[in-house]
Amino acid sequence: MPPALERPLMDAAFLANPYPTYRALREAGPIHWREEFFGGAWLVTRHTDVELVLKDPRFSAKRTGSWVKDREDAPGEFKGFQALFARALLFLDAPDHPRIRKVLNAGFRPEILQGLAPHIERVAGELLDRVAHQETFDFIEAVARPLPVRVMALLLGIEQPDDDFMAWSEHLASFIGEPQPTRAQARSAQTSLLAMGLYFESLLALRRKTPGDDLVSRLAQAQARGEIEGGAELLAQCAMLLFAGHETTRHLLGSSVHALLSHPAQWQRLVREPTLLPGAVRELLRFESPVQYTGRRVATDMVLHGVQLRRGELVLAMIGAASRDPARYPDPDVLDITRCHGPSLAFGSGPHVCIGAALTLLEARIVLGQLLDRWPGLSLAEAAPRWGDTPAYRGLVALPLRRRPAHDDHWASQPQLDAIGTEARRATALATQVHS
Ligand code: HEM
Repeated sequence: MPPALERPLMDAAFLANPYPTYRALREAGPIHWREEFFGGAWLVTRHTDVELVLKDPRFSAKRTGSWVKDREDAPGEFKGFQALFARALLFLDAPDHPRIRKVLNAGFRPEILQGLAPHIERVAGELLDRVAHQETFDFIEAVARPLPVRVMALLLGIEQPDDDFMAWSEHLASFIGEPQPTRAQARSAQTSLLAMGLYFESLLALRRKTPGDDLVSRLAQAQARGEIEGGAELLAQCAMLLFAGHETTRHLLGSSVHALLSHPAQWQRLVREPTLLPGAVRELLRFESPVQYTGRRVATDMVLHGVQLRRGELVLAMIGAASRDPARYPDPDVLDITRCHGPSLAFGSGPHVCIGAALTLLEARIVLGQLLDRWPGLSLAEAAPRWGDTPAYRGLVALPLRRRPAHDDHWASQPQLDAIGTEARRATALATQVHS
């Protein structure tokens, strides 16, 4: 087993199960320098340090240069990407950040989300109906992938979301989740981002003429009041919303169903006590955090745990590691849907805490609620899951599930379910052994 500081953070074994490596890093020390992230970055893995980096203004959110660097033979090649990307809320500091966040917050008020709930129920119901006649189906393809795009379309007022939306978001997410992006990936991400920009330019023009009750109309009105600039500033927020809520929610839905069905006693408990669902979703976000890390740049020279950090250096706040820190969560590798804890770091913390958190919790409760209600005897159709290949975003590529015919659902025998769950956990343990 290589020492903690030399363990790979991107190979297949790590992607299948990153937690032993996170544990080794946490135990080896509070801060580590790793070359494989963007040519060099500091990693913090303990809960208190991750929270500090996300909350402390000595760490700046302006970091888009990490992904695209101009080459001498092609100066300005990524000007278009930078012009939009660097203006998105996620990558801004005060005073621009609070100004734009205030405008966007208005689109996520509780009454707006309440108004969306019946639509989300309907979309989830439609997607599940489509597979209701199949004994086995891929949950990612059937529900977890299409649902978030349709919800974002509802929020933004996009009438006909097509495959382009998913493709653009997926290009961007796989680029942003890549710690060593290639030139080809940067070009493809730029093409997708600019395509999103063009799309929203025409949607904004339409909503200025015929406003609706959607977020894009609200943004157009805020621009008219002078609260947000037109052009790149406005387009950047639209594109960011489309992409930020897509991959993340898909991963939460997939990982949650997988985690619960790998622990059948917890699934059955939710079947019996659906009121536990809100707490369960929080625990599932902690257990498999869809965003495994986010970055900041050191804004001013400082010393952290005796290590000198220089202005401009990149620091990665390892959310996935913090979510399993035993100093914060007793028995952190145990899934316990009744574990009582406040919000985890899965949605971040401080000024950039996820603006879509309440919407995400609503989506997850609706989807899991419908699954538990319709198919209490649901089980995993394959024991070994296939995890995606970006270390920043953790989620399943496919999740085949088996549903019993309706009349059989309620006689789901506990020993049978337990056997499948044990098999699934054994597959994960095997990945851990291979890795450690
Ligand atoms: C499981 C689902 C989600 C997870 C795990 C998640 C996670 C996060 C995290 C960790 C951050 C903080 C990033 C940082 O500090 O660098 C964040 C910010 C953000 N999220 Fe989410 N997110 C999810 C869903 C959504 C949805 C559905 C939307 C949109 C509707 C959204 C929009 C945003 C935006 C706009 C920000 C930037 C906020 C700011 O900079 O002030 N997210 N999210």
